[in-house]
Amino acid sequence: MSKKYDIILFGASGFTGALVARYISAHIISENINWAIAGRDEKKLKEIQNGLTNSPDIVIADVTDKVSLHQMASKSKVLMNAVGPFNWYGKDVVKACIDNSTHYLDITGEPSFVADVYNSYYQLAVENKACVVNCCGFDSIPADYAAWLTAQKLPLNEPKSLMGYFRTNAAFSGGTLTTAIQALYMEAEKKSVKVRIKKHKDAPKLDIKIHFSKEVGGWAIPMPVVDPHIVKRSAFRLPQDYGIAVSYGQFFVRTTFIKMLKTILPVISARFLVRFKTFRKRMFDKFQPGTGPDEERRAKSQFEVVCIGKSKTAEAITIFSGGDPGYNETAKMFAQSAFTLLDKIKNNSVHYGVLTPVEAFGMDLVTRLRKEGLHIV
Ligand SMILES: NC(=O)c1ccc[n+]([C@@H]2O[C@H](COP(=O)([O-])OP(=O)(O)OC[C@H]3O[C@@H](n4cnc5c(N)ncnc54)[C@H](OP(=O)(O)O)[C@@H]3O)[C@@H](O)[C@H]2O)c1
Repeated sequence: MSKKYDIILFGASGFTGALVARYISAHIISENINWAIAGRDEKKLKEIQNGLTNSPDIVIADVTDKVSLHQMASKSKVLMNAVGPFNWYGKDVVKACIDNSTHYLDITGEPSFVADVYNSYYQLAVENKACVVNCCGFDSIPADYAAWLTAQKLPLNEPKSLMGYFRTNAAFSGGTLTTAIQALYMEAEKKSVKVRIKKHKDAPKLDIKIHFSKEVGGWAIPMPVVDPHIVKRSAFRLPQDYGIAVSYGQFFVRTTFIKMLKTILPVISARFLVRFKTFRKRMFDKFQPGTGPDEERRAKSQFEVVCIGKSKTAEAITIFSGGDPGYNETAKMFAQSAFTLLDKIKNNSVHYGVLTPVEAFGMDLVTRLRKEGLHIV
C-alpha cells in the first residue's frame, strides 16, 4: 500500500474525536506515525490542529459527499472513524474504505450498525484485503477481551458460561446520548439489523434477567448494548480459543436496590418514549454535539469489568479496569488499536474481513493497553 498517511482520524472535531486527536498527537514520535485529521468543517479542524503539539494535515470530507469519502479513504492505510451516530453516518465511510483497501476502525456501540456492516461487507472486505473493526472503544474492547481471556483459563473442550459484570460512575457526551436515543428508536420500530449466531446445543442456558448477584455484591441488570454481539461473534469465530459450546451474558451492576431502580426506570421510559417524534427531537436538541463531561468530571470516572467463567470442572475470572471509560480510555483503546494494526501492516500479519477487536488485534493490544495503565488480569 503506497498511501500518504498511516492514519486519518475522521470526526476529529467531535467531543471524542478531539480527545483521540490529542492522544495520537502525544504518541506520533514514539510510534513514528504520519497522520491527518479529517472532518467537514475546516475552521473547527484548524482549531483542533492549533491545539496539538505536532500539527497534523487536514483532510476535508463530509458523509453526505461520497466522492470526498473516497478521496479521504484513498489517502490512508488506516481510517479511524469517530463520526456518529454511526446508524446515520457510518455505512458509506466503511464502504469507501473497503473499496480503497483501507483498514477501517471505529468506536460505534450501535448493535444494528455493527450487524449491518458484518452482514453486508464481510466478503467484500476479504476480497479487497481490508480489515474492518467496529467497537474499538469502551464498546466493546473490555467485554471482548475479558471474555476471551476468561475462556482461555477454562478447559477447551468443556461447555462454558461467561458472565460479564460492568460497573462505572461515568457521565456521557451529547453524541453518545443522541446515538443511544437513535439506537433505542430503531429497536422500538423493529428497524434494527440482527446477526444470528448459531448457539451450540451443549452451550449452558443462562437466565438473562435482573437479579442480585452474591458473586459481585450487587444488582445485575441486562442492558441493550452491543458487547454481547461482539463477544458471541469472537467465540463463534475462535473455537480454538473458546471451545465450541459457549454462552455469554452481560450485566450492569448497581450496589443497592434504589440505584438499580434509578438505572432501569429512565431506560424503560426512554424505550417507550422514543416512538414519539417530539420526544426524539427534544432529546436531540438537548444532547448537543461537541459537548460532554469536562476534564475534572472525567478524572473522577472509573470502570471495572469482571468476567466470571464456569465449566464442569473449573472456574475462572478476569478483571479489566481503568479510568474514564467513554472518553479518556476510549481515546486510548481506539488509538492503541490503530497502532496495533499499523504494527501488523509492517509484519504482514493483518487479518481481512469484518472482525471483532479480539480477532483483529489478539494479545498485542493487551500488551499495549497494560503498558498504558489499563489493569487487565
Ligand atoms: N463506543 C464507545 O465507547 C464510544 C465512546 C465515545 C463515543 N462513542 C460514539 O462516537 C460518536 C461520536 O461521539 P461524540 O460524543 O464525539 O459526538 P459529537 O461530539 O457529536 O461528534 C460528532 C462528530 O461527527 C461529525 N459529523 C457530523 N456530521 C458529519 C458529516 N455530515 N460529515 C462529517 N462529519 C460529521 C461532527 O463534525 P462537526 O464538528 O463538523 O459537526 C463531529 O466531529 C457517537 O456515535 C458516540 O456514541 C462511542
